[in-house]
Amino acid sequence: CLILHAEHTMNASTFSARVTASTLTDPYAVVASAVGTLAGPLHGGANEDVINMLEEIGSVENVRPYVEKCIQNKIKIAGFGHRVYKVKDPRATILQKLAEQLFDKFGGDRYYDIALKLEEVVGEYLSYKGIYPNVDFYSGLVYRRLGIPNDLFTPVFAIARVAGWLAHWKEQLEANRIYRPTQVYTGAHNQPYVPMEERNHRP
Ligand SMILES: CC(C)(COP(=O)(O)OP(=O)(O)OC[C@H]1O[C@@H](n2cnc3c(N)ncnc32)[C@H](O)[C@@H]1OP(=O)(O)O)[C@@H](O)C(=O)NCCC(=O)NCCS
Repeated sequence: CLILHAEHTMNASTFSARVTASTLTDPYAVVASAVGTLAGPLHGGANEDVINMLEEIGSVENVRPYVEKCIQNKIKIAGFGHRVYKVKDPRATILQKLAEQLFDKFGGDRYYDIALKLEEVVGEYLSYKGIYPNVDFYSGLVYRRLGIPNDLFTPVFAIARVAGWLAHWKEQLEANRIYRPTQVYTGAHNQPYVPMEERNHRP
């Protein structure tokens, strides 16, 4: 798992690491900024959300209504979809095999049956949009079987990813230039200053 999570090109947290590195700050600050980005539920925080979701679904029978409710209400299903992959994340395939090996050796996990059904039903409804399991879908099940508490899943991801972030830090320093993207301002111009007491405050 740690090898699998060590590096994955220019994902959001690695980009944060490189921006921070480009200011020539120390590597601790580089890793701290990357950790902050990784923690978000759209990035590494998703592995914890997956287990909470499987818990909420509770049984294989509830999977279809759960997926239909999410689609109807435009709720993203944790552990599915990827900014780059429009197929099943190859890391999810490896983690699924690891999970199965663990279950064979140390006993199954009823959440795995729910996860399998979820993959099937989400595939039925959303594969046309390229929505498939990502790395975070099966990693939580592996960590759960290893006895790691849910709130440490993302820290385990971070422990592995430190190798990648620091490799990027070194690479950034080899040909450094501070990141400073330009922006296109589309807001209003020539706005008058309104004193605080003359502004409309909401009650
Ligand atoms: C990873 C993620 C942020 C990628 O986002 P993205 O590439 O910007 O994808 P978009 O938000 O543009 O989604 C494209 C379409 O797929 C749908 N979609 C994307 N992820 C979805 C998900 N997890 N569940 C349901 N629908 C999803 C979107 O609603 C959108 O549909 P629309 O075109 O009808 O509006 C997104 O898939 C997501 O939020 N996934 C859940 C969180 C997660 O598992 N994160 C870990 C990633 S490794």
